[in-house]
Parts: sequence; C-alpha cells; structure tokens
Amino acid sequence: MITAALYDAKPYDREYFDRALGHERIAWQFHEFRLGAQTAATADGMRVVCIFVNDHVDRTCIAGLAKGGVKLIALRCAGFNNVDLKAAQEFGIAVVRVPAYSPHAVAEHAIGLLLTLNRHIHRAYNRVREHNFSLNRLVGFDLAGKTVGIIGTGKIGRITAQIFRGFDCRVIAHDLMPTADWAAQHGIEYTSLTTLLQSSDIISLHLPLTPETFHFFHRDTIQQMKHGAYLINTSRGKLIDTTALLDALKTGHLGGVALDVYEEEEGVFFEDHSEHLLQDDELNLLLTFPNVLITSHQAFLTREALGEIARVTTENILRLDAEQPPLDGTAL
Ligand code: NAI
Repeated sequence: MITAALYDAKPYDREYFDRALGHERIAWQFHEFRLGAQTAATADGMRVVCIFVNDHVDRTCIAGLAKGGVKLIALRCAGFNNVDLKAAQEFGIAVVRVPAYSPHAVAEHAIGLLLTLNRHIHRAYNRVREHNFSLNRLVGFDLAGKTVGIIGTGKIGRITAQIFRGFDCRVIAHDLMPTADWAAQHGIEYTSLTTLLQSSDIISLHLPLTPETFHFFHRDTIQQMKHGAYLINTSRGKLIDTTALLDALKTGHLGGVALDVYEEEEGVFFEDHSEHLLQDDELNLLLTFPNVLITSHQAFLTREALGEIARVTTENILRLDAEQPPLDGTAL
C-alpha cells in the first residue's frame, strides 16, 4: 500500500479519489485542513501529499515534508504558483500536476458568469421566487457583435474564445506565444495588449499566475479599458489589483466584473463562513456591488474534471510506486 495524505479535502474529492482506477492500492488519509509549514508534520510517514490551489507549500513546508519521508507532491489542479519548485527539487521531492483536466469546465463557467451578470439572471431568479415579476433594471445587452478580448490563449483561453465566436462576437486575443493557425481557423485576430484593452467590450483572463503576471490588471491597465466594459477572471485572483478594481467600480468605469477567483481567497473560498463576519473589507465591499458576480473558485467543478483529476493523480502515484516516470506533461 502507498501512503498518501490529501489536504483541503472536500466530500467531492473523497468521492472521486475513492473510485479512481487503482485506488485500492493507496491508503488515503483525507485532511480537511490545508497543507503548509504549520501542518507539514501531519505528513510524517506518508510517501505522497496531494494538494489543491490554496495549500501553501513553501521551502519550510517542503523541508518538513522531506524530513517525514514524502517523495511526491501531487497537485490536483493545473496552477502551481503555491509550490516552491526549486526547494522541492533541492529536497528530492517530485512534483506533478494535472495540466488539463477539463479546459471546457473553466471556459463554460466563464461564459456562464458573463451571461448571468449581463442578463441579471441571478437577480431575476430571486425576484421571481418572491413573486416579483417586474423587469425593471434587468436590461442587458446582446453578445452578438460585441468585441471580446481574450488574454492568454492556452487551453482554456482558446475554448473560451471559440465559444464567444459561437455567439457571433468579434474575438481578439493577446498572448506571449500566439497560436496563429488556430486564430486563423476560428476567425480570431491577435492584437497588442493596448489595442485589446482599448477595443474590448468584454475581457476574459486566462493567464497563469507568475511573477510577470502578478497584478497584470492594475490601475493603468484598467483605465485603458473601454468605459462600461466587463471583466471576467477565472484564472487566479492575484492577476488583478483589487484596490484598483474597486476604484474603477466606484467611478462606474467598469460595467461589470465576474470573478471566480479573488486576490485574498485563501482561507475564505471553499469554506462556509455564513456563521462568521468576513474580516476582509475589500471582499465585503466587492460583494455590495450589484454589477459584481463572485463564485468561490468553482470553475473546475464538473463531474468530468473531478474524474480526470482523480484518474491522472492516482495513476501518477501508482507510477511512483512502480518507479516509472509520471504521465507525459504532468511533471514539474
Ligand atoms: P495554459 O498554460 O494552457 O495557457 C496559459 C497561456 O497564457 C499560454 O498560452 C501562455 O503563453 C500565456 N501567457 C503566460 N504569461 C503571459 C503573459 N505575461 N502575457 C500574455 N500571455 C501569457 O493554461 P490554461 O490551462 O489555459 O489555464 C489558465 C489558468 O487558468 C491556469 O494557469 C490557472 O491559474 C487557471 N485555472 C483556473 C481554474 C478554476 O477553477 N478557476 C481551473 C483551472 C485553471
């Protein structure tokens, strides 16, 4: 049996990991708390730790894991900004992730957020349930003919762009490494960042969080956006400077903001805080705007994505035991 500890465990994680092919060869310990320097000792005796987006695996944590005998950090997500890869290498711990469990899940959620926000579906749902059938203040706009800017045309950005093309939008894109063939095939045009910011009615972010993309959207970037434009972020919260975003919302510069991720989501998202006062004033303020829609990092949450995450992670753990290399493209 391979010993493995899964952190920040939720009922849906357990459900999918407990039925992945080969699961009977892994002795799972599911922990509801997150992995970090303070909790690294709970992995003593484990060969594998399995973590998610808000576990915080810095050098101190990695030193603790190595001391306890951990050989593999398996991220059950695509982003890996929360792991010190250099330290992991130094301590001889392999790191794997699930690079593409379902780009459709995230792209479809981004579109769902925009449609909800633009057509006020969340407000209409509540109104009708209270027998208020008035349409006042529910006016939206057609997506057809609008210009959509996609920043980051990797796996998720490309699918999002294609869906917007299905709505008859004009789609423009920006990426450090443009995919020219794909763009030509779908009638999408690459532009400079400045052109994209200045001409888009809707902007959707699909970038990884790196030192270069931290606060990619700051005061100046937001000011270059069209008055009344919509901004969607399903990537990582720290891509946007929340203080600058709030200022742009207060002045009415932005028409709407849809967020599945938030700069300071760690410790807040994924948990039920309905019995406590939220201590984050910027999040409290964001939640008061009628033109802001927030979901709690749920874009990945489809049956297909959870099944794929459990499949790839389980197979990588079994491969470690069999002294085989990780699945193609999953090693970091
Ligand atoms: P990907 O790696 O396939 O694509 C990222 C793209 O961004 C690449 O084309 C790359 O060239 C481009 N890029 C990187 N730095 C750039 C820069 N400074 N300027 C312009 N372009 C840049 O990643 P994928 O799979 O499309 O995912 C995107 C992000 O979505 C992930 O990094 C992750 O943070 C987030 N994500 C969020 C989920 C959620 O549940 N909300 C679930 C899965 C991923």
